Amino acid sequence: MPQELRYGLIGAGLMGQEHLRNVGALPGASFVAVADPHGPSRDQARMLLGPEPQISADYRDVLARSDIDAIVIATPNHTHAGVLRDVMASGKNILSEKPLCTTLQDGRAIVEAAEGYPAVFWVAMEYRYMPPVARLIELVHGGRVGALKMLAIREHRFPFLPKVGDWNRFNRNTGGTLVEKCCHFFDLMRLVVRSEPVRVFASGAQDVNHLDERYDGETPDILDNAFVVVDFENGVRAMLDLCMFAEGSANQEEIAVTGSRGKVEAFLPSSKVVVATRERGSAVEIDVPVPADVGFEGYHHGSSYIEHVRFRDTILAGGKAEVTVSDGLAAVEMGMAAQRSIETGRPVLIEEVSLRAV
Ligand SMILES: NC(=O)c1ccc[n+]([C@@H]2O[C@H](COP(=O)([O-])OP(=O)(O)OC[C@H]3O[C@@H](n4cnc5c(N)ncnc54)[C@H](O)[C@@H]3O)[C@@H](O)[C@H]2O)c1
Repeated sequence: MPQELRYGLIGAGLMGQEHLRNVGALPGASFVAVADPHGPSRDQARMLLGPEPQISADYRDVLARSDIDAIVIATPNHTHAGVLRDVMASGKNILSEKPLCTTLQDGRAIVEAAEGYPAVFWVAMEYRYMPPVARLIELVHGGRVGALKMLAIREHRFPFLPKVGDWNRFNRNTGGTLVEKCCHFFDLMRLVVRSEPVRVFASGAQDVNHLDERYDGETPDILDNAFVVVDFENGVRAMLDLCMFAEGSANQEEIAVTGSRGKVEAFLPSSKVVVATRERGSAVEIDVPVPADVGFEGYHHGSSYIEHVRFRDTILAGGKAEVTVSDGLAAVEMGMAAQRSIETGRPVLIEEVSLRAV
């Protein structure tokens, strides 16, 4: 393996450009090829990379190169399965954006193709690496809350941004808001709780956002607020509180983990962690800023850069992905269960939406 890893990017929109900037600041790796059918996205990539890297409209041009060590996939959600099928055939190391897939059939095809994959296959879940979130996980797993009982994640933020071709306005392209955006939070739940989800109950709707938008005469159908409750095998219960018309929130994300002995909370973007026992007045606030060695802070508090450091180091060490295909799929299944619970008005067992049900 060469010391300077050579990467190819498939999809150079908003997130693809964050990957270009991350790797631009990362020692030991660089993008040598980019593919995107959309001219303005290719122009942005050219602006960020300069004249040398190959920039083309067809990702097969990138896959045809034998000198590329890793492929980063940042295309719209519903295209992941098709792109992954071709990328997996190349046997290259993969960092694929979330969600892994938008349908169970696609999930099954990916899992089958990924069995025994000879290189690193990593699903991008950078919330794990946001500095206050990483500290919270460390404290909880270190026993600070005692026996973990409850996990609450609140995201109160702005609406979905415009995307190339407006793909994110429709459930058929995204998998639904609770798959598209919230797979990050379901991944965090599994990671913090260290158990598997059993049952999901959700209430949600599209009450405010995008209702006056039309695309070829069609109104967007993506929900903009929800409460989701998840029961885990080990008895822990978790909850997601999502609101996407809450720009005025002091913090966009708030995570609270409570156990038999105390509580740990994390706040973003204020980058704080609060640790407390059950005693009144025991709360201690800790600043957890983005570390100075993070080369690019981006839109995710340095976490997608940190993820790239770990992806690079895993390739160089011949190691295994920290966020596996199975993790990516589990987060999608939880999102699908939540979407189905909202559609049907009843609790949904994970086994109803797991690959076993395909
Ligand atoms: N990890 C995160 O926090 C995070 C944040 C934002 C987006 N994302 C994910 O990244 C992916 C891209 O989202 P985005 O916000 O960049 O969307 P975007 O619309 O800004 O960009 C998508 C790009 O993919 C290109 N594309 C479409 N089909 C392609 C193909 N067959 N080959 C090559 N390029 C193709 C489009 O032309 C566009 O330039 C999505 O899966 C999204 O869920 C992840």
